[in-house]
Amino acid sequence: MKILESLKNWQCERREFDISGTRTKQNTIGFIPTMGALHNGHLSLVEQARRENNVVVASIFVNPTQFNNAEDLIKYPRDIARDIEFLHGHNVDYLLLPSESEMYEDQYRFRLSECEESKILCGAFRPGHFDGVLTVVMKLLNLVRANRCYMGEKDFQQMRLIKRMASTFFIETEIVACPIVRESSGLAMSSRNERLSAIGRVYASKLFETLKTADSSAIALRELSRLGFQVEYVEEHWGRRLAAVWFEGVRLIDNVSIHVSPTNNVEQGAATTTLGATP
Ligand code: PAF
Repeated sequence: MKILESLKNWQCERREFDISGTRTKQNTIGFIPTMGALHNGHLSLVEQARRENNVVVASIFVNPTQFNNAEDLIKYPRDIARDIEFLHGHNVDYLLLPSESEMYEDQYRFRLSECEESKILCGAFRPGHFDGVLTVVMKLLNLVRANRCYMGEKDFQQMRLIKRMASTFFIETEIVACPIVRESSGLAMSSRNERLSAIGRVYASKLFETLKTADSSAIALRELSRLGFQVEYVEEHWGRRLAAVWFEGVRLIDNVSIHVSPTNNVEQGAATTTLGATP
């Protein structure tokens, strides 16, 4: 695995790939952008990228502009040595480790905003979060110019926004949505889970259980509060029931697919009738 800390060096490397890629006409690049603290959810993205492409590129960059809370940024888990070993062991060809000064040499003067879907759910509770996400992902997509970029559906709202951004700005990378990977308890895998206690990590699976079994989002919200979660939201959009909660001082998000009556146009907004939920 070739590790590149300088984006200038990566751009040279990428240009060479263009030359050999044109010659053979069969190279495709699969890209996995991450903020590190890698787990088996990331592994499933790497494996899918490996199956579908012959070059796999990953990036690790804890993006400061998507943290609306300074303490959350400081507490975000980081273990770069372990992450490098992890990616090395899973057949990644290139790892980009850009510095903040190179990624934001403009001091974040230029940024990307979306005005509707980024303002609800996580966006309502984390002002500016999606501006930071969209800006950094746009930079990474332009740098890597991959054929496919792999994103997990745990961050469902993020994945939708990035898909839409890529098509709006004629980015040629296909954004591939990948299913949520869960721990055996049902808890969605997340870098933030590392900050839960051993017992908390098992208890937190009640988030998934409740989203899946409650008859409505209002009932799920009440039940989660009763179970001791501090709930930010439980809402239904785009055929999914989505939630964000705090538990042991850690912010967790999850979502499940829901069955809605055919008369509800869930693509246009929140579903009003829920008949049941599936994982
Ligand atoms: O999902 C993440 O890890 C981050 O939001 C991403 C897409 C790498 C952008 O910083």
